[in-house]
Amino acid sequence: MSRTPFVLLLFLYAPALLGVDLQPPSSAEVCGDCHRAIHDGWKRSAHANAMESRLFQDALKLAEADFGVQSRKVCLGCHSPIAVLTGDLGLIKKVSWEGVTCDYCHSIRDVTLTEGNPRAKVEFSLVKSGPSKEAVSTAHGTAYSEVHTSALACVTCHEYRNSLGFPVLTTYSEWKNSAYTGGGESCQSCHMYRVEGDVVDPRVKRNSHLTLNLHEIPGSHSLDQLNKAIKGQLSAARDGNQVKVSVEVSNRGAGHDVPTGSPLRQLILEVRADRYDGKHFRQERVFRRTVADAQGKILNREHLAFLRAARVVTDTRLAPKETRNETFTFPAPPGVQTQLEASFYYYYSPMASTEAEQKVKFLTLRRLVP
Ligand code: HEC
Ligand code: HEC
Ligand code: HEC
Ligand code: HEC
Ligand code: HEC
Repeated sequence: MSRTPFVLLLFLYAPALLGVDLQPPSSAEVCGDCHRAIHDGWKRSAHANAMESRLFQDALKLAEADFGVQSRKVCLGCHSPIAVLTGDLGLIKKVSWEGVTCDYCHSIRDVTLTEGNPRAKVEFSLVKSGPSKEAVSTAHGTAYSEVHTSALACVTCHEYRNSLGFPVLTTYSEWKNSAYTGGGESCQSCHMYRVEGDVVDPRVKRNSHLTLNLHEIPGSHSLDQLNKAIKGQLSAARDGNQVKVSVEVSNRGAGHDVPTGSPLRQLILEVRADRYDGKHFRQERVFRRTVADAQGKILNREHLAFLRAARVVTDTRLAPKETRNETFTFPAPPGVQTQLEASFYYYYSPMASTEAEQKVKFLTLRRLVP
């Protein structure tokens, strides 16, 4: 690295002038001094909340209670990679509580896909790796990294086999096998698209491009993303004493299965038939991957799914670009009108403490059948 002395020299004065301590790995707040807009986006992301999330903390306690303290290292490997890399499993340092934070992602130098789980090569230094060949910073060195422009930046945490060899997370391979790969749409195209904003505070450096990569990384907690992902169409017809309903559901906008990721996530389609004579009916379809342990017991807790899943029981998820037709039948005597309502819910986890944290309704279709 012939650039290192140059980089160090710059480091010696610039951050000192700004009163910034860039000793790596830094807290996101330090980076946020200059990269304010990016920091604010990241702060709202699931990545920033990966450690402080109540759901995660509860699951971590259960993992340790059921499988011993060594399971902590497995979980923190993705929820606080800096804690594992710096040996801070006791979580003394503030940066260990920041979850998936700036200085982890921007210290990744390379990622390799191996037989087992993908591996990242991480170097904490005063050089930050990123997507641009032109970026020059007076505060720290910069290094162009192809990894950051591709799905490899995400693969180490979004593709995972547990110690039993079971693929718990398969988001990367779902994407890899989809038409999106050939179409040149990587994870970043849909999750980190460019939005207006200053990459660096203009007081630090005037920048010619006024857009930055969205660091909020919206996923299933964003109604916008859910509505991009799923399209539905409701049709219904009377057939004698019945109403026949058909809901066409398609995965239009997600570059992987819906739901993807944790086996506890579900997409639920609920169809209600409210008859004008006061009778009410309800049916549902669940799109999910159900997993079981080696003994065949179905697993419905995150810590069990991550550590003990050994096989798939059923998989009804929607593959990228897949369209499926779901049909329902309700009793409806002639002359009685029926109001139909089809609703799509995204369900996060049975461990969530409130109904609102547990699931969200994002799309409703209605039709009146005379
Ligand atoms: C999950 C990993 C991840 C985290 C966490 C993360 N970044 Fe990034 N960042 C990326 C990737 C990947 C890109 C490039 C995206 C692309 O090129 O499509 C990027 C781009 C950038 C850029 C390039 C400029 C631009 O165009 O936006 C800067 C600067 C940056 N990040 C700073 C930060 C700061 C500061 C934080 C913390 C507040 C942070 N990043 C957190 C992965 C991450
Ligand atoms: C004292 C101000 C300052 C601080 C603090 C700072 N940066 Fe930067 N950073 C800059 C400037 C200036 C640029 C150059 C922007 C450009 O040319 O577009 C930059 C560029 C970058 C890039 C872009 C590289 C690329 O390839 O696009 C990344 C990534 C980055 N910083 C990450 C970080 C991270 C991570 C931290 C915290 C550990 C951090 N920065 C802290 C000022 C700062
Ligand atoms: C064509 C656009 C597109 C591409 C490409 C794409 N995604 Fe997504 N992703 C979405 C949409 C839309 C959602 C929201 C619907 C959902 O949660 O399934 C989503 C949701 C997610 C979620 C949330 C799942 C959960 O359990 O909460 C994760 C994680 C994710 N994507 C990761 C990735 C990764 C990693 C890649 C690359 C390997 C990727 N995505 C590629 C569009 C895309
Ligand atoms: C160091 C591990 C790590 C890396 C690298 C990483 N993620 Fe994540 N990601 C996580 C964890 C952990 C969560 C879950 C946080 C939680 O909800 O507790 C998550 C959650 C998400 C979500 C869900 C957001 C939601 O709405 O629930 C999306 C989307 C996502 N990541 C996309 C990406 C993309 C795109 C990249 C690559 C640019 C990436 N991640 C890189 C660990 C990582
Ligand atoms: C290989 C990386 C990885 C490992 C290891 C990992 N997780 Fe996660 N975890 C994720 C990602 C990515 C998500 C969220 C998005 C998704 O569903 O893909 C997540 C989501 C979760 C959630 C749901 C959080 C929410 O906001 O809905 C809990 C709880 C959780 N993990 C607990 C654990 C526990 C406990 C362990 C250890 C036994 C663990 N995780 C190990 C990557 C990981």
